[in-house]
Amino acid sequence: MKNPYLPLPVRIKEVITATEDNSLKTFRLEFLHSEHAESFQFKPGQFAQISVPGAGEVPIGIASSPHEGPDLLFTISKAGVVTTKLHSMKAGDRLGVRGPLGHPYPLDQATGKNLVILAGGYAVTTLRSTMIWLLHPDNRSNYERITFIYGARTPGMLLYLEDIVQWEKSGQADIHLTVDNEAPGWERLVGFVPQIAQQVAPSPENSMALICGPPVMIKFTQPVLDNLGWKSEQIIMSLENRMKCGIGICGRCNVGPYYVCSDGPVFTKAELDVLPAEY
Ligand SMILES: Cc1cc2nc3c(=O)[nH]c(=O)nc-3n(C[C@H](O)[C@H](O)[C@H](O)COP(=O)(O)OP(=O)(O)OC[C@H]3O[C@@H](n4cnc5c(N)ncnc54)[C@H](O)[C@@H]3O)c2cc1C
Ligand code: FES
Repeated sequence: MKNPYLPLPVRIKEVITATEDNSLKTFRLEFLHSEHAESFQFKPGQFAQISVPGAGEVPIGIASSPHEGPDLLFTISKAGVVTTKLHSMKAGDRLGVRGPLGHPYPLDQATGKNLVILAGGYAVTTLRSTMIWLLHPDNRSNYERITFIYGARTPGMLLYLEDIVQWEKSGQADIHLTVDNEAPGWERLVGFVPQIAQQVAPSPENSMALICGPPVMIKFTQPVLDNLGWKSEQIIMSLENRMKCGIGICGRCNVGPYYVCSDGPVFTKAELDVLPAEY
């Protein structure tokens, strides 16, 4: 029987400093064995446990899209013990990857609908995966209008700018990029994500929203969507609770009736509305 705790060996192929303050790095990981690359079949919204020798394991959302080939991308903030060790590692170093874990965004249920994607800060990682998946020629015609609203503190803190500019150029999605304050050379939007959502005013009709961001962004975006008439069932969110096993065994991520790792991390707002405030 396959041991669910056994990580698959990977090599760091590339490390990219992703933000101006060096707090986020994107790691391109290559499987050491081709059969592992083939068996690691994931969908946007899923995560993996990344194990760092001598430090431990951390759950991280998969930032690459299944269409981008066998290498996996993870964009990781330097938060504490494991991620600090990870930030000191270089191309050629070895790690382990356990996954894919959790449920993906319910993109099959959004077929024929408009999609509104609201992202703040580094929580955009799995939404990058989602956008690449949605805009792929195999999938784009299954969806109506796609609106992408993404904000960060400063232009230098925005992730994946090259990708986002390409999505915009392709004309296949409405892109709204914003930063908190005016900045030299910045000619796009200025303001917090909830304010921009208010201006864009996405209609809830035949629509689904995916929201990922810091709690403060989510807190102020919810009333904007409520006022526009969005129902809790139409809003999908992804949680980032502390985890250990990642597979619904240890109970570390438990909230109400759910294990966030195995029942989520993706939930409808309707599911979260009835949970205790601890999430
Ligand atoms: C499903 C999922 C997806 C995630 N995706 C990403 C991602 O794409 N990129 C990324 O940078 N991070 C992501 N995280 C958060 C990441 O797992 C934590 O930052 C990481 O576990 C911290 O580990 P550490 O050992 O470096 O920090 P620790 O030494 O364990 O803690 C350092 C600090 O970080 C806080 N912290 C630890 N874990 C979490 C957590 N899960 N949520 C909030 N605060 C935490 C601690 O309270 C402490 O203040 C994700 C978490 C989950 C559950
Ligand atoms: S992390 Fe162990 S049950 Fe979720």
